[in-house]
Amino acid sequence: MKSLTDLRTGAVAVAAALALAGSARAADAGRPPYLDPAQPVEARVDDLLGRLTLDEKIALVHGDSKFTVAAIPRLGIPRRWLSDGPHGVREDVGPDTFKPANRTDDFATYLPVAVALASTWNPDAARAYGNVIGEEARRRGKDIMLGPGVNIQRTPLNGRTFEYLGEDPFLASRMAVSYIKAVQSHDVSSCVKHFACNSQETERNTVDVQMDERTLHEIYLPAFKAAVQEAGVWCVMGAYNRFRGQQCCENDYLLNQVLKTQWGFKGVVISDWNGTHNGTQAVLGGLDLEMGTAKPYADYYLARQFKEGIEKGAYPMSVLDDKVRRNLRVMFALHFLESRPEGSLNTAAHQETAQRVAEEGMVLLKNAGGALPLDAGAITSIAVIGENAVRLQAHGGGSTEMKALHEITPLEGLIRHSGGRINFTYSQGYGKEAGVAAADRAVRAAKAADVALVVAGLNHERTFDCEGADRNSLDLPYGQDELIRRVAQANPRTVVVLVSGSPVRMGAWLDQVPAVLQAWYAGCEGGRALARVLFGDVNPSGKLPCTFPKKLADSPAYALGAYPGKGGIEPYTEGLLVGYRWFDTKGIEPLFPFGHGLSYTSFAYSDLRLVAGTDSKGPVVTVEFKLTNTGSRAGAEVAQVYVHQAKPSLQRPLRELKGFRKVALKPGERQAVSIPLAREAFAFYDAEKAAWVAEKDDFEIAIGSSSRDLRLRGNFSLPVAATWK
Ligand code: BGC
Repeated sequence: MKSLTDLRTGAVAVAAALALAGSARAADAGRPPYLDPAQPVEARVDDLLGRLTLDEKIALVHGDSKFTVAAIPRLGIPRRWLSDGPHGVREDVGPDTFKPANRTDDFATYLPVAVALASTWNPDAARAYGNVIGEEARRRGKDIMLGPGVNIQRTPLNGRTFEYLGEDPFLASRMAVSYIKAVQSHDVSSCVKHFACNSQETERNTVDVQMDERTLHEIYLPAFKAAVQEAGVWCVMGAYNRFRGQQCCENDYLLNQVLKTQWGFKGVVISDWNGTHNGTQAVLGGLDLEMGTAKPYADYYLARQFKEGIEKGAYPMSVLDDKVRRNLRVMFALHFLESRPEGSLNTAAHQETAQRVAEEGMVLLKNAGGALPLDAGAITSIAVIGENAVRLQAHGGGSTEMKALHEITPLEGLIRHSGGRINFTYSQGYGKEAGVAAADRAVRAAKAADVALVVAGLNHERTFDCEGADRNSLDLPYGQDELIRRVAQANPRTVVVLVSGSPVRMGAWLDQVPAVLQAWYAGCEGGRALARVLFGDVNPSGKLPCTFPKKLADSPAYALGAYPGKGGIEPYTEGLLVGYRWFDTKGIEPLFPFGHGLSYTSFAYSDLRLVAGTDSKGPVVTVEFKLTNTGSRAGAEVAQVYVHQAKPSLQRPLRELKGFRKVALKPGERQAVSIPLAREAFAFYDAEKAAWVAEKDDFEIAIGSSSRDLRLRGNFSLPVAATWK
């Protein structure tokens, strides 16, 4: 096996190419322009393109193992290494299988899952997270990291909800942009995925998504667009599903027209693994790098048959050249041919980031009578109940799985935190194999303890939070509802911690427990973070990035019978009304609303001022207000700005998130907060004009602690209309 150093830099190969540079041109110039870092990227691309043979060009547009693309040693082009994924650098597999490579040097930092990151509502946390991925990718010799996933949560049952950034395009965009910029600052490419409208795992390879143009642009595309235009992401992964009849990895409209032409994307479109289905469509439909097809590499659609097509004149060389250019451009832009940062793996700083994100992402859903935080000085015994208190979660979920160097479980975190001062009992209580006897034991333990802590939820097994299938229901599995009910009866001080990556139903027991904390899959330091939140070392500040419905039938795609579609077609009948846009517009009470999350302190909002101004594009408004910590603990509040248009010419959702700010405040501290709203905050997409439109109208601007807890309201009139592409 090659050493990591060889794999990482390709520097050895470059030196060999230089030594071999027998061409008169190279000798004349000292070195060929493509090897000269002082040359502009496009000049290097042009130069190298001209030196490639047809076979070499073809080699650059398809994989030569599960996660690599061939090197061209003659010219010093290194082999490219791709890796999952969004939550850290995945274990090495292959080369020709997804089975582990059984290396001993591929343990990595297991970060909290993406939905937990989104729950921080803190782009700085996303930046720190992206830095960990970038640094570890470098150390592990990876060039392209397959993440983040920014598909909008359309249904709470999507098996991949945990690896996405929630239901709101604005929030997902803000988090993704910070994440991607950070990863790419380490000379590693992010690969934002899955483009586009990949909202379910049921029939994921064939389902044909149908939606109107406005919904596409307002809900499902903004996070991708922000990744391209604001973060400068270098790779985009096509989705498995079809869109308007055509597979997404070969979709002329999505890839050629929207992504490349309208948005000006200059990087590489990568297929999802085995997501390429048709040679001609792949060649012409905008795919630039084919990966994971279930065929010998030479038989890939963008391999021999592409070459033969060029030779026969079925495809112009310019089509291949464009794909090659894109691949080379990314290599040069990220200095693949120069020495790149060494990176670092499993450092204390990375683990601290994992812990901080876990702490900031936990969402306190309910806290009646100040049940939390627990008083470590006053409690002598805690009955810890539930399989998720001891279950390791890193190595599951599909392509996001991690080979964690370590993972601190909830029980371990609690025990470590207590330093021997509290007596813990542990009962499994529920689980695949746990029966009534285990539940009985848990109830007895709960009765005997000061506090009962049920660590409930889902796991990464198929049909829960796992790639490849959707969940079958919103309910907790394994009889957990009944267990929690019984434990709560046995001990009124029952705290429920939910370890899951998607919403669950709680109706059977929510009224009977004083406190519920949504902890998500919290990464390698998750148990430590959990203990610090429960005991009050950390004041929770996470907010839900998705609505928790009371029941499935309240959720839009289900209420309309639009999921999982019929005859292979998935009509997005609910249109724009995804998540809170649906619940608010239809007046349906959620279990917990979008943006909800409690704190151990309290915050007051006051002194709203809407300050009108202009920027280079037209009128804007700055939302100014004061935020005060009115309690006795330090804490952080996520102030959220929602916009409502008074009389739109097209129907709009009741309100839409257009700004937010996380503000840390000491007890009694007051801070002025100012959140700018540019013209985009007022606009909708007009499909007839194929343009964004901000109408001359009145807008209500509401500022709140959640989408349903609005504290300040003001009105703003947009003085002139504007239309832009
Ligand atoms: C997933 C992608 C992943 C790829 C490579 C696919 O099954 O959909 O998200 O990056 O596999 O593991």
